[in-house]
Amino acid sequence: MRIFTLILGLLCSLGYSSGYNYLMVLNSAGRSHFNVGHALAKGLVKAGHDITVVSVYPLKKPIPGYTDVNVPNIFNVMGGDIAALWSSIQKPVTQKLIDHYQMGFRITRGLFEDPNFQDFLKSNQSFDAIICETFYNDAHYGLAEHFNAPLIGLSTGGGVTFITDMVGSPAPASFVPHIMLPFNDHMSLYERLLNVAFLGYERLLLDYYYLPNQEKLYKEFFPGNKRCFYEMRRNASLVLINQHVSLSFPRPYTPNMIEVGGMHIDGKLSPLPEKIERFINESEHGAIYFSMGSNLKSKDLPPAKVQEILRALGGLKQRVLWKFELDNLPNKPENVYISDWFPQTDILAHPKVLAFVTHGGMLSTTESIYHGKPVVGLPIFSDQFFNMAHAVQTGYGIMLDFKTLNAADFQKAIERITSELSYTKVVQGMSLRYRDQQQTPLENAVYWVEHVTRHQGAAYLQSAAQRLNWWQYHNVDVLLIIFGVAFLLVIALPFTIFKLLKNKLSIGERTKSTKVKRN
Ligand SMILES: *[C@@H]1O[C@H](CO)[C@@H](O)[C@H](O)[C@H]1NC(C)=O
Ligand SMILES: *[C@@H]1O[C@H](CO)[C@@H](O)[C@H](O)[C@H]1NC(C)=O
Ligand SMILES: *[C@@H]1O[C@H](CO)[C@@H](O)[C@H](O)[C@H]1NC(C)=O
Repeated sequence: MRIFTLILGLLCSLGYSSGYNYLMVLNSAGRSHFNVGHALAKGLVKAGHDITVVSVYPLKKPIPGYTDVNVPNIFNVMGGDIAALWSSIQKPVTQKLIDHYQMGFRITRGLFEDPNFQDFLKSNQSFDAIICETFYNDAHYGLAEHFNAPLIGLSTGGGVTFITDMVGSPAPASFVPHIMLPFNDHMSLYERLLNVAFLGYERLLLDYYYLPNQEKLYKEFFPGNKRCFYEMRRNASLVLINQHVSLSFPRPYTPNMIEVGGMHIDGKLSPLPEKIERFINESEHGAIYFSMGSNLKSKDLPPAKVQEILRALGGLKQRVLWKFELDNLPNKPENVYISDWFPQTDILAHPKVLAFVTHGGMLSTTESIYHGKPVVGLPIFSDQFFNMAHAVQTGYGIMLDFKTLNAADFQKAIERITSELSYTKVVQGMSLRYRDQQQTPLENAVYWVEHVTRHQGAAYLQSAAQRLNWWQYHNVDVLLIIFGVAFLLVIALPFTIFKLLKNKLSIGERTKSTKVKRN
């Protein structure tokens, strides 16, 4: 008996010591961002680790090993940004970028100033790694030094510059478009020109506006940190990005930037609520699912736009499920079902659901591809333009301009996506490729988090690019030398030779003339 207890105790202590203790900071109030981090947090707990999650969405049902730090102040500072998303479509992309940075300053400060977060910082906990969402919040990465643990970045989108900076992933402007531009990897000369110009504009803003302001926040809220802000933010052990080559296109990454797109899809389906299932089941011509995501509320649309949309939907032979957040929608046609919430992935999985009308957000397009459903995209902000440009390029979607959206075009696009089989065929192929991975995206993410923890930050993965400044990285100094020498050879040398010859001639002439004089 005693030996049994001993073995049990030993096993328990072994089990205990094999688990790591993680801190995860999710600094965005966007529900979709939380869903990505939450999926990873649950995956880590399932793998036997403990995790403390700082977010605005505390658990409703506690999970052993999962500790919440609720930071509601993020809602206070980000509410206005979420409300302004619809109108942001009127702004040029150059302004949208500045708006994102300014929102970033508010959120970064908002987290630091949350009383719960301040208390948490003062508690002397120790962590094996810090997993920090990368959402315009570089000052937060100082948590790694504060807790003396390696830094892991978690991007809920793709590889945008301030994130690829963390590990030095190359992003050649010739075939990697900026995610806020509606381009794909095959750019025309004009598109490449715009891409390079926009990336240059972003670099200037980053270096002379965004980063200096983040540095100020870093110094204000981590007075005890010794590391230089710029070195610190280029010292991440790992960055996980919510992207996958089958969902976009091939592009290079450093070995510590890992694509784990779709961690939030667990492959399990829940039965649909009966009312919704019957509505879909009884549709003679199938159903369309229409949702602009968790942040864009359809109820906030101008009434004229809502009527335009309703005229398009009413003209369809299919039934439509529209995420619309009010109970009362005047002139709602018979074939339209509204609700403020839908079990999205379970609906997309229903065989009678034919297509998804979406804003083109990363989670929505990933789920649509996973379930093999083509999309009609109405991109509004951020990477939605890029995601939809990819949908158009690969042929699984149609993109419409929301600013000029009218009933006729909207209806025509939905009719095309449901009647032309090519869209569905393409997306079903993509679904097969996306599902054909060695591990699930979540297993892959958990593995990499554990790997860099096991190897104390896995500095061996860090690219030497991280220690170069921009002119070294782009070999500007070397190019100056090469072009300098070439310049000498091509222009300066003939010029010098010419000058020498001329001098010689004039000397010859002079000696001639002196000779003449002498004579
Ligand atoms: C944390 O540690 C410091 C010194 O190491 C101590 O002064 C402080 O009281 C500790 N705080 C808590 C909450 O344990
Ligand atoms: C980089 O991070 C590691 C931990 O992963 C730490 O030991 C090291 O001091 C950091 N270096 C810089 C320059 O911040
Ligand atoms: C919907 O159809 C499926 C398959 O035919 C069936 O199993 C399910 O019970 C139906 N649900 C409702 C609510 O009618």
